Amino acid sequence: MKISKKVVYDEHKTLTMKGLSIKISLKITKENTMKKTILILVIGIPLLFIISLFSQEFTYVGAGKCKICHKTEKQGRQFPLWEEKKHSKSFAALSSPEAPAKAKEMGVENPVESPDCLKCHAPLFEKAPEFKEEGVTCEVCHGPGSAYKKLKIMKSREESVKNGLTVYDTPEEKKEWCLTCHENAHGQSFDFEASWEKIKHPVPEKQ
Ligand code: HEC
Ligand code: HEC
Ligand code: HEC
Ligand code: HEC
Repeated sequence: MKISKKVVYDEHKTLTMKGLSIKISLKITKENTMKKTILILVIGIPLLFIISLFSQEFTYVGAGKCKICHKTEKQGRQFPLWEEKKHSKSFAALSSPEAPAKAKEMGVENPVESPDCLKCHAPLFEKAPEFKEEGVTCEVCHGPGSAYKKLKIMKSREESVKNGLTVYDTPEEKKEWCLTCHENAHGQSFDFEASWEKIKHPVPEKQ
């Protein structure tokens, strides 16, 4: 049997960066290990740089940050309004006296730990567990705020959206979003208009 010196083998490298992964496959001969290393450096480093440019990832900052600018009468008291309502207490509800019965109905053992409850009651439990206890918090509905929370950006709706803010242009879009949790929750019906009246938090001068 003749073994060729130029045994070709596949090399698969995966560059992973902020959730994006790119597979580089190189077919290289054994003799070319030096070239291979150089090739990986030459292709890999600029590639990582490009990926990092395009995969800017927004992260969660918590309602305490939003409070700084969204608490006065003039601003529309968004933070205090949220704090007074049950969305801010939805994680706590999982250890309320009514929780065990609801858990039993749904065949869940430990509500505080179970994704079956957390997905609606503490939606950041995976993406930002440090803010799990904020329940249905600002950034659940408005998107992760690390980049848009700066005053200069917040002043422009367009810039805010580019930097991760979620906005709802029509009542239908709003309703659809609410229904992701409220549709048939615990077998209850959902009256969108009446529910929105209960939790709305407009800037007064815009009304
Ligand atoms: C440094 C101050 C500041 C911080 C911090 C801040 N905001 Fe704002 N935000 C503003 C200003 C100013 C506006 C424009 C208000 C207006 O339209 O009158 C605004 C507007 C908004 C709007 C309305 C966008 C639109 O055009 O419909 C939303 C939603 C919002 N902020 C959410 C948040 C959330 C959520 C956080 C926390 C992650 C946050 N903001 C943090 C200052 C801030
Ligand atoms: C599909 C989303 C969803 C899931 C999953 C879910 N809930 Fe709920 N839960 C809701 C909504 C929405 C309400 C509020 C209903 C209302 O007030 O109209 C609620 C209300 C409750 C309440 C009443 C709280 C109060 O203040 O009166 C308890 C307790 C509760 N849920 C426990 C649980 C438990 C335990 C689980 C898991 C076994 C669970 N929920 C899973 C959406 C959900
Ligand atoms: C990520 C899931 C989720 C989304 C999205 C959501 N809700 Fe809720 N909502 C809940 C849960 C869970 C509760 C129950 C909290 C509790 O009782 O502790 C609740 C409670 C409420 C309540 C009762 C509040 C109170 O203080 O009595 C109203 C009203 C409400 N939601 C309206 C809305 C509207 C309107 C939307 C859309 C703009 C919406 N919700 C979007 C999960 C959600
Ligand atoms: C259950 C989802 C939900 C939660 C939680 C929530 N918002 Fe909103 N918010 C909305 C929706 C939907 C609108 C869009 C209203 C519209 O344009 O009709 C809105 C509008 C706003 C606006 C713009 C008001 C205006 O008149 O222009 C600001 C500012 C805002 N939210 C800030 C916050 C802050 C700060 C928090 C947390 C303290 C928060 N929101 C929590 C759903 C939510």
